[in-house]
Amino acid sequence: MQTYKIAVLSGDGIGPEITSEATKILRHIETRNAIRFDLTDALFGATAYFETGTSFPKETIEICDQADAILKGTIGLSHEDSKKIPVDDQPERGALLPMRRRYDTYANLRPVYLPPSLAHFSPLRPEIIGAGIDALIVRELVGGLYFGHKTMGINDDGKRFVHEQLEYTEDQIRRVLHIGFELASKRKGYLHNVHKSNVLKSSVLWNEILEEVQLEFPDIKVEHVLVDAAATYLCLDPSRFDVMVMENMFGDILSDQGGGILGSLGLMPSACIGPEKSYYEPSHGSAPDIAGKGIANPYAMLGSVAMMLEMSCNMDAEATNLWNAMQNVFVHGFTTPDLARRGKAESVISTAEFGDKVLEELDRMPVPQN
Ligand code: NAD
Ligand code: IPM
Ligand code: MN
Repeated sequence: MQTYKIAVLSGDGIGPEITSEATKILRHIETRNAIRFDLTDALFGATAYFETGTSFPKETIEICDQADAILKGTIGLSHEDSKKIPVDDQPERGALLPMRRRYDTYANLRPVYLPPSLAHFSPLRPEIIGAGIDALIVRELVGGLYFGHKTMGINDDGKRFVHEQLEYTEDQIRRVLHIGFELASKRKGYLHNVHKSNVLKSSVLWNEILEEVQLEFPDIKVEHVLVDAAATYLCLDPSRFDVMVMENMFGDILSDQGGGILGSLGLMPSACIGPEKSYYEPSHGSAPDIAGKGIANPYAMLGSVAMMLEMSCNMDAEATNLWNAMQNVFVHGFTTPDLARRGKAESVISTAEFGDKVLEELDRMPVPQN
């Protein structure tokens, strides 16, 4: 039987709560398909640090190295609790960025998607959100400010200073733009290039390379938009966007704004694609404010599972079933608390109940015939 080895990194905060819904779904998918998921749990993040003294332990690295794909929950502590860990060992710098670098997961796909049936979740007025939104942020994930050279110290005047470089090579830019163009060809045939070339030299190089890559995709219409204006258009007219490609830091910020226009960060899944290995995680964080209460919305995590099924397990039909099942739970009047305020008299359910209802909905879907 086809078997996929999956490293499961549940992480911190709401990570374990939403990850256990993800594994529940994977186990259920095994019962419907001739497939096996060899799931291996591994410590990652602050939880790993407190248990082993490092956020990305050697055993975890080995498990990830051997996996076909990695499914990650969330990492990170609250602002106050972060101070319990030395800056360079904190889960963001000590685990997540090293994982992105190790597997060179350069293309981070973050769908900003609300089908018409769920458009009421958006805080945007109906005349703006219209029949929902279907945009896709393609975020460069292993370059830029995040990975540039960093120094902190005392200058000649005895003042503290910090120096943080934004670095890109042309190859790094070209490969993510390629993904942007390819996705635009498969979707609506246009691409928004989000940049800041009026100030940043990195964007000047980015745009130069974009013009070169564009020659390979003569049918794709490119719209250039400055990142600050893009933030406004996302609020005022989100339907103008389809595929949006951008560098690392811009993508971090605009994708959380994406969560804002959908109505919750809990609706933002993501896939982090590397040349050999990909990993899948929700775009949101560990939500320390709601952790341990069983009320987190697992949709972003389960959507990340759907992206894994499609992109790492060759299971497109079952991925579509999972998306539909998740949306049907909402359509049938259930919601987690994050979306209840904008719901239509929904019954508010827990993280685990949401997972159970997804299983019920999945069972109403035809089993794919391979
Ligand atoms: P956050 O995304 O954790 O939370 C922001 C807000 O969104 C909170 O009110 C939270 O309750 C809500 N929220 C997020 N996900 C939700 C869900 N699934 N269901 C319901 N509500 C949800 O961002 P933050 O508070 O700025 O960061 C908390 C920690 O998470 C920090 O340590 C940060 O570094 C880390 N972080 C990790 C990742 C990751 O693992 N990839 C991503 C972003 C932030
Ligand atoms: C994300 C997160 C990470 C990022 C942090 C936790 C390092 O915010 O995945 O969006 O900034 O990339
Ligand atoms: Mn982020």
